[in-house]
Amino acid sequence: MTDKTGDLHDDRKDYTMAELSRDSLHIDPLEMFGAWMNDARNANIIDATAMTLATVGNNGAPSARIVLLKQFTADGFYWYTHYKSRKGNELATNNAAALVFYWRELERQVRIEGKVTKASSTESDEYFHKRPVGSRFSAAASPQSQVIENQQWLTQRTQKLQAEYDENTLQRPEDWGGYKLQPDVYEFWQGRPSRQHDRFRFTRTENEWAIDRLAP
Ligand SMILES: Cc1cc2nc3c(=O)[nH]c(=O)nc-3n(C[C@H](O)[C@H](O)[C@H](O)COP(=O)(O)O)c2cc1C
Repeated sequence: MTDKTGDLHDDRKDYTMAELSRDSLHIDPLEMFGAWMNDARNANIIDATAMTLATVGNNGAPSARIVLLKQFTADGFYWYTHYKSRKGNELATNNAAALVFYWRELERQVRIEGKVTKASSTESDEYFHKRPVGSRFSAAASPQSQVIENQQWLTQRTQKLQAEYDENTLQRPEDWGGYKLQPDVYEFWQGRPSRQHDRFRFTRTENEWAIDRLAP
């Protein structure tokens, strides 16, 4: 319980689960990420695929929110959203972005930075049609990040769509779809006792990844 000062400095924790050595790193950070994501999913971490997505506004100020990672391949790290949302508008003017995963139960953090492009319309269509039907109608009805009058306004818009379409006829809205981030930098962080954390950064060079240990 926080006291009236809002002081949290006694909430200390020592990280003791594991260590990360240079020898244990994969040379390909995508494989390394895959191994860590497997560990997170095998540990039954709730929302293991949730990641903070940071984008840059017109004024150069950052903004961040959680989205769910839906796929990661050599083509990039994929998530799905509304293209006219705040993040969508920010990515349209500056496609630099950062992702952060925090797996508390494994005392691990992964940071990824790179450039973002839209997924192809085929990829977005495929994913849209895999979603539960309720989520499809919500995606179509919600002008994400716009100011709306009240909840009822959204409910009515959803009901109107449900009256006009069914799950076979509702198409993916043009303004809704996937993005993929192609990493230029990864950082893998493993918590260690007394703040002696292990951090390894992978930086893309012309034909390989440069690996550096960073001070915690
Ligand atoms: C656990 C969690 C998962 C979320 N997943 C997504 C997602 O995959 N796509 C999405 O557009 N919003 C997702 N959101 C909502 C976003 O955090 C955010 O509210 C929304 O995308 C609007 O952000 P923007 O106004 O910055 O564009 C998620 C939120 C939480 C807490």
